[in-house]
Amino acid sequence: MRPWKLAKRLVPLFLLFTLVLSGCSSILGDDPSPLNPKGSVGEDQLFLIKLSLFVMTGVLVIVFVLFGYVVIRFRKRKNQTGVPKQTEGSHVLEIVWTVIPLVLLLILAVPMVTQTFALAKDYSESEEAEQVKVIGHQFWWEFQYPEHGIYTAQDLVIPVNTKIAFELTSADVIHSFWIPGLGGKMDTNPGMTNKFYLDAEEVGTYKGKCAELCGASHALMDFKVQVVTQEEYEAWVASMKEPSQAVNEQDALAQGQEIFKAKCMSCHAIDGTQPGVYPNLKGFADRELVAGIKENNAEWIRKWIDDPQSIKPGTLMPNVDLTDDELDALTEYLQSLKLE
Ligand code: CUA
Repeated sequence: MRPWKLAKRLVPLFLLFTLVLSGCSSILGDDPSPLNPKGSVGEDQLFLIKLSLFVMTGVLVIVFVLFGYVVIRFRKRKNQTGVPKQTEGSHVLEIVWTVIPLVLLLILAVPMVTQTFALAKDYSESEEAEQVKVIGHQFWWEFQYPEHGIYTAQDLVIPVNTKIAFELTSADVIHSFWIPGLGGKMDTNPGMTNKFYLDAEEVGTYKGKCAELCGASHALMDFKVQVVTQEEYEAWVASMKEPSQAVNEQDALAQGQEIFKAKCMSCHAIDGTQPGVYPNLKGFADRELVAGIKENNAEWIRKWIDDPQSIKPGTLMPNVDLTDDELDALTEYLQSLKLE
């Protein structure tokens, strides 16, 4: 192929890659991600990614340089006839190309194996670690804090600079629990408990995702991680245990509470110490998102109650049949569910 023809093919390809890859950086930005982790597990894993990339890039460059050199240096010359001199059975060369890959494999294997065992450390009996049970549901996340007797959903609250020992299972199909900014993922399997740990070194909000195809709304099975200081965490634990505020009969919220009791209470607890089959709504108004994906405001709360299937196809949340006024009252009541 003529060089200009080759360029005509390669340049658009190169531009396409540039476009696609710059898309990655604009999506990730400075947000915590596997390439910009904010926890010790993520950092160790990033080191392994960089190490293997470095070794593999080195091999690739050396092989291609040698290949190019050999193709040019030993090409067939004009007027050349016969078979060139053969170099079969060179002991020196055979030892060189056996030893080099062996050394490279050792450079990869030693830290990989060491880290694999280190990251599998079990903190489930550890005093210094916080214990959190994660239960995957189609299509939401339940979080239990067995040491505190707390149940919540969608917003995982954890203290900074503390090992969090996760025990993970599923209520239905296989999901995968993933906080990209803190470390690798772990499957939640029905009838089985998996364990792993993570920690966060910076206070802030992190994105969480389901990373295993689990049904129609798999891509919408998001959650948030709120990393808070130790004091804030203790305050949160205390407020989750507080009984929910009763609404005054005279209050404008009374109608909303009545509707909640009649239509929602059989599935959703608003007491943080009660387990439930469906998301516990204690402190719902403090959560960042509705259903894990939409901004937590009156508009989306209304839409979610009115037609959940349009927001999360396949969700088990039923359509609640309410008039406009009832919908307003219920929305107002849900927006009052704040932690003290
Ligand atoms: Cu749950 Cu994908």
